[in-house]
Amino acid sequence: MQTAATAAPSVGESPVALATQPAAAPLLIGVPKETAPGEKRVATVPEAVVKLVKLGFAVAVESGAGAAANFADDTYREAGAQVVTDAAQLWSRADIVFKVRPPTPQEVGMLRRGATLIGFIWPAQNPELMQQLAGRGVTVLAIDSLPRQLSRAQKMDALTSMAGVSGYRAVIEAANAFGRFFNGQVTAAGKIPPARVFIAGAGVAGLAAIGTAANLGAIVRANDTRAEVADQVVSLGGEFVKVDYEEEGSGGGGYAKVMSEGFQQAQREMYAREAKDADIIITTALIPGKPAPKLITAEMVRSMKPGSVIVDMAAEQGGNCELTEPGQAVVKHGVTIVGYTDLVSRLAKQSSTLYSNNLLRLAEELCKAKNGRIDVNMDDDAIRGLTVIKDGNITWPPPPPKIPAAAAKPKSAAPVAAPKGHGHGASEPMAAKSLAIVFGVGALLFLLVGLYAPATFLSHFVVFVLACFIGYMVIWNVTPSLHTPLMSVTNAISSIIAIGALIQVAPPLSGAGADRPSQLILGLAVFALALTAVNMFGGFAVTRRMLAMFRK
Ligand code: NAI
Repeated sequence: MQTAATAAPSVGESPVALATQPAAAPLLIGVPKETAPGEKRVATVPEAVVKLVKLGFAVAVESGAGAAANFADDTYREAGAQVVTDAAQLWSRADIVFKVRPPTPQEVGMLRRGATLIGFIWPAQNPELMQQLAGRGVTVLAIDSLPRQLSRAQKMDALTSMAGVSGYRAVIEAANAFGRFFNGQVTAAGKIPPARVFIAGAGVAGLAAIGTAANLGAIVRANDTRAEVADQVVSLGGEFVKVDYEEEGSGGGGYAKVMSEGFQQAQREMYAREAKDADIIITTALIPGKPAPKLITAEMVRSMKPGSVIVDMAAEQGGNCELTEPGQAVVKHGVTIVGYTDLVSRLAKQSSTLYSNNLLRLAEELCKAKNGRIDVNMDDDAIRGLTVIKDGNITWPPPPPKIPAAAAKPKSAAPVAAPKGHGHGASEPMAAKSLAIVFGVGALLFLLVGLYAPATFLSHFVVFVLACFIGYMVIWNVTPSLHTPLMSVTNAISSIIAIGALIQVAPPLSGAGADRPSQLILGLAVFALALTAVNMFGGFAVTRRMLAMFRK
């Protein structure tokens, strides 16, 4: 638990000095104004302030922090926050600081020792910042370091929520720079073909761009090195274009890996063909921690139709296009190349609201007792992944999260209320005594049958007993979820056995007339055959459908 040095100032207090409170008071969350040039987002919106106050926290917002995202100071006051004009005072008094962009060295200098900072940090790219923060003796939760593969972490996944917004905005920027409709139209004045959009990289931003462009009526084609995203591309209205080279592109955890030179060559050839056809290219290809792969060469740009547009979303990581200028929209070879690095900020209200919700969910995780205090629990995989500095000690990179591969069995077998007769609970080994009794009775029966039954019956009987034994062993060891498909197979097998039995019962059809079966038996045999045929083919059909559900 963090100890509070300050506490909530009373609601509605206008710019005043924040008074020092007793140690047991609830923690104060400070929301400063973002200082990065062009950054319009704010880390907390008024709607979230209400919920943070309900969690027991006090909230102070720097005056004008939400202005660029259309959240006025008054709306923060109404929500229960205090509005503070002096940034230095806000930084130095806050127990927890909610930020969007990584702090500047000046901001780090204003942080109170022992405080907690939550926001984008990018520890791999900002080693100096990490050292400064550690030297300040603070705890830092980097929202960009969230282990995204944990399903529980999704509500806090700001990378995803921001990438979704930026993918949408990339299409809007493309539409703005493109001098034509997206959808095809047939009018009295002539026919307009739909725009052709090619998306490189179908991660979160890419998929959002595919959905947006398809909804605007464009023909959308997309490529990714991870073949597993093909279904998602199609479900959003796009067409997946495969590279003609067999290589799996998944590097684990939903991220890509660097591909072989052979693959890259085949990919370049495919992209060259797509570039000639496309009106708009949106590139989003990224491998975390690596410079953006160069997918669109100067030659490909030159081959595009004049008036075409490229939006390079990876501009900040060096760009997917050779001719991108980060932060700029430039025209080269008649093609507009948009390299804006502030796409999310261009929809500041929406993105601030989503980001603020991500931080609110994180606050809920940190403050389960709803008492305005936080517990940075390093045993929790999600919190451990996020925490890059704990009390001045750098804890980044974290160990890989312990994700259960499948529904893990409870450690203690505890078959307390195992159901009788069926299922796994019934597969308990029989007690040695009862097993001996069963075998003894069985052996006696076999002896009696062997002594008195005809030889032909005996051979069928042995097959029958062995079939029962194998069937029992097979079915009893099958996972319950697979019982239905398996049952339908055994159904089909039983049908075959039934047919076999009918043939055995009926005398041979050829030979002396006296050996012919009676009309009744023949009729019954035909009827039974028809019934078992339904059972048999029905069994196979059901099995096929059931197994199809398990296939991708
Ligand atoms: P993501 O990791 O979810 O998706 C990246 C995709 O690129 C993955 O599906 C990956 O398989 C694919 N990829 C990697 N190498 C590839 C290759 N050689 N060929 C084809 N596909 C390849 O990332 P997310 O969140 O979708 O972000 C995409 C990009 O957008 C990133 O560069 C990110 O920094 C950027 N971004 C830019 C913003 C802006 O304002 N410009 C705002 C938000 C994100």
